[in-house]
Amino acid sequence: MRKPFIAGNWKMNTDSHSSVSLAKAISSGTQHVAGRSVDVAVIPPFVYLQAVASALSASSIAVGAQDIYIEPKGAFTGEISAAMLKDVGCSYALCGHSERRHVIGETDEMVNKKVKAALAGGLLPILCVGELREERESDKTAEVVTRQLKNGLADLGDEKVSAITIAYEPVWAIGTGLTATPQQAQEVHSLIRELISRIYDSRLADALRIQYGGSAKPDNAAELMAQPDIDGLLVGGASLKADDFLEIIKTVV
Ligand code: PGA
Repeated sequence: MRKPFIAGNWKMNTDSHSSVSLAKAISSGTQHVAGRSVDVAVIPPFVYLQAVASALSASSIAVGAQDIYIEPKGAFTGEISAAMLKDVGCSYALCGHSERRHVIGETDEMVNKKVKAALAGGLLPILCVGELREERESDKTAEVVTRQLKNGLADLGDEKVSAITIAYEPVWAIGTGLTATPQQAQEVHSLIRELISRIYDSRLADALRIQYGGSAKPDNAAELMAQPDIDGLLVGGASLKADDFLEIIKTVV
């Protein structure tokens, strides 16, 4: 049985005050469930990680980073290593979020290096995959997701892959208010699980958690989570309001 995993990706939002108050509100609203019936993580901007992690230190809510650099240290101006993230209390790192792929230009190869850097530094990667609107419209969804997944996981053995969460986030649904229908999402989630089963084995595929992301909100969370291969949600916009995020968490506990 896979434990549901709900994560809030705050993107480039909040400030030093609101990041901490949002974290505290989420923590007090999930006291009896976080870490037990559901895993919960918040993913604030780098500069607020330490403050948020310290506000959550007595809770069971995990903290994640929105990105990570591929090298452990050195002359890489502006970048942040896995060790630094770990040092300030992170346990997860997003790798290959669609905004990193399509706004910043990260390639599959770079994303694979990020997954490896996260694992090497003791962080749990959340590998994001998902097709653009034009790719869905030209029936390329399966091809794109398969390529991103295979390349993202290249050269990783079973043990490493078992530490990874996959987030399926159709790019056309991110921040647009358009959500994939539960059936559209389920179709891709089951394809991902099938692929993992073929590349690795069915035991690993059965245990793998696959989150859906893309305009997940209180009024669609339950029907998405009811799908057999949807094990959690990666929530953007709706994770910035404590009430909405708590409402989403409630749908799985
Ligand atoms: P959204 O973002 O919920 O605002 O669509 C999801 C994400 O990008 O992770």
